[in-house]
Amino acid sequence: MAPDPLTPYGNRPMVTPIVNAVNYEYLSFEVLRQITDGEIDGYTYHRDDNPTVREVERKIAVLEGAEDCVVCTSGMAACTMVYLTYLKAGDHLLLFHDTYGANYKVSLILERLGVEVTWVDADDAERLADHLRPNTRMIFLETPSNPLCKVLDIAGVRKAADTTGAMLVVDNTFATPYHQNPLQWGAELVVHSATKALGGHNDLMAGAIAGSKEHYNRLWFTRQAIGTTLDAYSAFLLDRGLKTFPLRAEAMARGAQAVAEFLAGDARISRLLYPGLSSHPGHAVAARQMRRGYGGMLAFDVGHNEEDAKRFIAALQTIYHAVSLGATESLICIPYLTTMLYLPPEMRTTFGVRRNTVRLSVGVEPPELLIKDLRQALACVGA
Ligand SMILES: Cc1ncc(COP(=O)(O)O)c(C=O)c1O
Repeated sequence: MAPDPLTPYGNRPMVTPIVNAVNYEYLSFEVLRQITDGEIDGYTYHRDDNPTVREVERKIAVLEGAEDCVVCTSGMAACTMVYLTYLKAGDHLLLFHDTYGANYKVSLILERLGVEVTWVDADDAERLADHLRPNTRMIFLETPSNPLCKVLDIAGVRKAADTTGAMLVVDNTFATPYHQNPLQWGAELVVHSATKALGGHNDLMAGAIAGSKEHYNRLWFTRQAIGTTLDAYSAFLLDRGLKTFPLRAEAMARGAQAVAEFLAGDARISRLLYPGLSSHPGHAVAARQMRRGYGGMLAFDVGHNEEDAKRFIAALQTIYHAVSLGATESLICIPYLTTMLYLPPEMRTTFGVRRNTVRLSVGVEPPELLIKDLRQALACVGA
């Protein structure tokens, strides 16, 4: 047999190759049978599987302590694949708020398909039992949540879920697997917007769902059917991002803790939400279920109104005014004007977001640089 052109002497490339092929030549009918019967991890068509994508799936599964992982085109594709795979008409879906705003839009589609949907404030979690129904099939939560960094006790929710047999799904995008592994606390599935800290450089969109091999098989079925397979180039960028992910996660958490401690002493910050502060109502739970710090995300209210928050953001010089999060650069936005736009105006403030609430994603810059920037921008806000 002619040598493999990629590895002519058996030397493997140091970098995962980008395999852009849509289809693959079958070596024999026997190999085709082995692939289609699932005996070997072979490739036939991009919508089914791709070796570059498969590489990142294995790495994210390891990060989450999962048996396997399905990677797809975005975080919202991941959430939607989970809903489509496990819910049917007549089922009840319980969503904790906060969750990322676009879940609200997806919930409207699910309601159209006959799924009952309830939103429960994460600050009201001790009354969860009141909201469960015999047909509650799924509980979906984020901890810490987007944008208000509300903390939920995953093991506690798991216990309540057991009373109706509901499956528990945790969006771990804010926490990242560096700080938290929801499967360890009883979640069946972990969802990620890999667009965020896993990729980490504002240059790709991807989603990931990690869990048991059985869940992998069911979610793979959905992905193959609807065609949400990630392209190989984005998978390559994600693979590269994963190489520095622990370093970036460590730096982001260290920076966020320093920034939170700085903001805690400023009278112009009327509310400050960071799970790493002992003043945070969920600090004790976060200290138990997170490790190595509390992530790079924080939320706070600036001054008295939206104009104060806008003046503050406009004055920032190092921190970028942009949506998204988990990137090397620090990013700030007003959720009411950005990530909450998916909700009707009357719902945007229902669960605690205010018009002067800002969400800050701390990047990998030296914390003293960020504090200097925040200090000079706060000077533009009235007392
Ligand atoms: C917590 C969380 N989950 C899911 C998503 C959706 O991810 P994507 O934008 O990759 O679809 C986001 C996006 O901001 C998010 O913050």
